Amino acid sequence: MAVTPGYTRAMSDIDQLNRTLEQHAPALFRCLSPLGLRAIMPKGIVAQSAEASKAEIDCSIGQITDGSGSPMPLDAIERGMPGTNAKMAFLYSPMAGHGPLRQAWQDRQRRHSGGSTAANTVAMVTLGLTQGVSHAAALFADPDTDVIVTDPRWGNYDLVTRMHAGARIVAYPYFRDGRFNVEGLADALAKVRSKAVVLLNFPGNPTGYMPTPEVADEIVRVLNAHSGPAVVVVDDAYQGLVFDDGLQERSLYWDLVETADPERLFVMRLDGATKELLFFPGRVGFISHSLGEEASAALQSKLLCVSRGTVGSPPGPSQALVLDALRDPNLEANIADRVAVLKSRCLALRSLLAEHANPRVTPYPFNSGCFALLGLDPSIPAEELRLRLLNEYDLGVISIPSVNAVRLAYCSIAEETLPTVVERLMTAVDAW
Ligand SMILES: Cc1ncc(COP(=O)(O)O)c(C=O)c1O
Repeated sequence: MAVTPGYTRAMSDIDQLNRTLEQHAPALFRCLSPLGLRAIMPKGIVAQSAEASKAEIDCSIGQITDGSGSPMPLDAIERGMPGTNAKMAFLYSPMAGHGPLRQAWQDRQRRHSGGSTAANTVAMVTLGLTQGVSHAAALFADPDTDVIVTDPRWGNYDLVTRMHAGARIVAYPYFRDGRFNVEGLADALAKVRSKAVVLLNFPGNPTGYMPTPEVADEIVRVLNAHSGPAVVVVDDAYQGLVFDDGLQERSLYWDLVETADPERLFVMRLDGATKELLFFPGRVGFISHSLGEEASAALQSKLLCVSRGTVGSPPGPSQALVLDALRDPNLEANIADRVAVLKSRCLALRSLLAEHANPRVTPYPFNSGCFALLGLDPSIPAEELRLRLLNEYDLGVISIPSVNAVRLAYCSIAEETLPTVVERLMTAVDAW
């Protein structure tokens, strides 16, 4: 077979990239999937046009401009985004996302790090946190990978890791004795065949639970005791939505990057504007890690390759809006207002459930995020209850059959409506 010079060059570049990771991020390297091993951002249009942007005359990239580098958006589209940075909003974003946005997000992460001095890099912007999970799966999950998750969990982890990447799911029960099941995590890690991806999500979906600092310490201790190699993916989708005193305040990411041995663990963080900035359809997420410069560049090349080969670059308009938000001096006060509304609903729902205590409905502990999870007596199958609530009581909930529970998203219900929600639910249960 004829081998083109370009192909030969790319192969040796890949070897070099992989050698860099092997040397500087050994656990990461040992967890790479076959795709992860092959991935490298090609020196194609994206790289060439980045170089060409320095030239006096740049005729490298396929976007329509006024000839001087400014966009020419259509009137109707421009009218919809007054005051937004036009270049950010209407020209292609860099593949890794806009630099000033990544920097502003990184600064915000640092402010919420509880004074951590651990290294931290926002490696790229993703299309929501989902794409971050998908990138982690592309690079690290394959049929030899055990994906360690809780039961219950955000269901999309299964689609991304098992369906798309063919990995094996190893699930452990979320709660034990009314708190996070640290022992279950340790048991699941003990079952790892060769390499693992561990997904951590606090505050959790569908549990609405955040551990105390003591439990968080235990989780970190169990992970650090694992022989590896493992990639720990910290999914911080609901970061900041914490309602009780005495709970872990900062992301577990910081505790992990401060202590993890790179020979055994690689820790990556997924967070973003979706829930934290209440910008659900903006599709602005971030991947962060604490690798040094060389390994960081090597991983970046692999991440960008996966993005380029699937969805292309991230959206410009929503990056522009998130950057505006991050520069708004009132941002944190604004978020605090929304969190106060959620907290009040959380407390109201807790007292309603206590008031309507029902031996056939057991609320799991909830103290954060958006949800309450209610365990049901085995005589009431969750999916059947969901359908009855929908069809006879005009109430929509989510059923989670694996733990025979229903999830209430109180984040989207007015506090005044919560009594009706609880009454309808308990009436349906009593009539079973
Ligand atoms: C735990 C968790 N992770 C990730 C996501 C996905 O976030 P995004 O909408 O930004 O893709 C969700 C969304 O519900 C979630 O609950």
